[in-house]
Amino acid sequence: MTKVMNVGIMGCGNISKSYLSLAPLFRGIKIVAVADVVAAAAEERAKEFNVSALTPDGLLAAPNIDIIVNLTIPAAHYEVSRKALEAGKHVFSEKPYVLSVEEGLKLAALAREKGLRIGSAPDTILGGTHQYARHLIDRGEVGRITSGLCGVMSHGMESWHPNPGFFFLAGGGPMLDLGPYYVSNLVQLLGPVKRVSGFTSMATNTRTVTAEPNKGKVIPVETPTNIHATLEFAQGAVITLITSWDVWEHGMEPMALFGTEGTIHIPDPNMFGGEIRVMRTASDDRKVTTVEQWEHPLSKPNHGASSANYRCAGLTDMAQAIVAGRPHRCNGDFALHVIDIMTGILRAGEEGRVVEMQTTCERFAPLGPDEARALLAEG
Ligand SMILES: NC(=O)c1ccc[n+]([C@@H]2O[C@H](COP(=O)([O-])OP(=O)(O)OC[C@H]3O[C@@H](n4cnc5c(N)ncnc54)[C@H](O)[C@@H]3O)[C@@H](O)[C@H]2O)c1
Repeated sequence: MTKVMNVGIMGCGNISKSYLSLAPLFRGIKIVAVADVVAAAAEERAKEFNVSALTPDGLLAAPNIDIIVNLTIPAAHYEVSRKALEAGKHVFSEKPYVLSVEEGLKLAALAREKGLRIGSAPDTILGGTHQYARHLIDRGEVGRITSGLCGVMSHGMESWHPNPGFFFLAGGGPMLDLGPYYVSNLVQLLGPVKRVSGFTSMATNTRTVTAEPNKGKVIPVETPTNIHATLEFAQGAVITLITSWDVWEHGMEPMALFGTEGTIHIPDPNMFGGEIRVMRTASDDRKVTTVEQWEHPLSKPNHGASSANYRCAGLTDMAQAIVAGRPHRCNGDFALHVIDIMTGILRAGEEGRVVEMQTTCERFAPLGPDEARALLAEG
């Protein structure tokens, strides 16, 4: 029987519902309590999911909690994770993990000193689709990846999020908010990055919220909302990445990676599932090949939806890894390198120069169908 690690959730906003409702799908984790600076938010979630509502300090001090899941806003991530480590708890953070390399290095040192683990979202890249892309790239399906074109573009968050202000302040913006999905996937697929460049702009200085309950409120824009970046990977590939909230419609695919013998098209890394397409150069012709799709448990539509959602997979992998004494996949070193890349791109835009990375990381172990099954309660 798998040992169960008790989990406490810090931050009871929008995304906490996903964690609380999806956790029962997984083996080896149990959410036992929640907390929020707004006590009523914690009480509401506690009632809905039959867990305890505590104060933030109470959650940090709770002797029965092994892991704190940090679902607070980006500006609070570092401080909340630091306090959790100080309190002797392992930490799993929502993205963006921290807002600077310095913050990440401090957390890494603290975790090392205390013998604790750090993990971070996104764990969508553990989804069957992205693990299959990795399998195809690693087996040389399209040769060696030499370049690529990736983009996440829309007209922003004020049309759906109930409280969208933080998205447009320092620590928000499309690179730090949505970049983690794309950059993390690129790093798990291709390995670490050596240097980056970037240009940034913002279409407007304010936005008008169109979603309830803040409909009509004018909010300031204090961070770039249009970012065009180039990433040079240690393995040699040069990839273009665009993240923008200044675009109404575009015809681009989320990720296309170009190899010496073909192209692999990868769906949105903000999702666990979706179809991979490969275009290969055969000896005598060029053809689009729909590669056989994997029977991978983390790409199956679930939870009454038409798409796959397995948030908590990264948290569960970390919990099981702690018990087994093995490395976990969505780990702090990996997340820190992703932060280094994204903040480096923003700095490149600000300062008009190429920025060398200060950190590097290992590619974590792939999560094949069997390893994925072991994460699930009904494996
Ligand atoms: N909403 C989504 O669909 C989504 C998806 C993936 C990831 N995320 C990430 O999850 C995080 C939270 O997003 P959200 O949409 O749930 O935000 P939210 O604003 O809806 O909720 C954040 C909650 O954290 C609480 N909080 C803030 N500072 C705190 C502190 N110091 N201690 C305790 N509680 C604190 C707030 O009171 C609020 O209830 C963000 O980093 C975001 O990028 C969100």
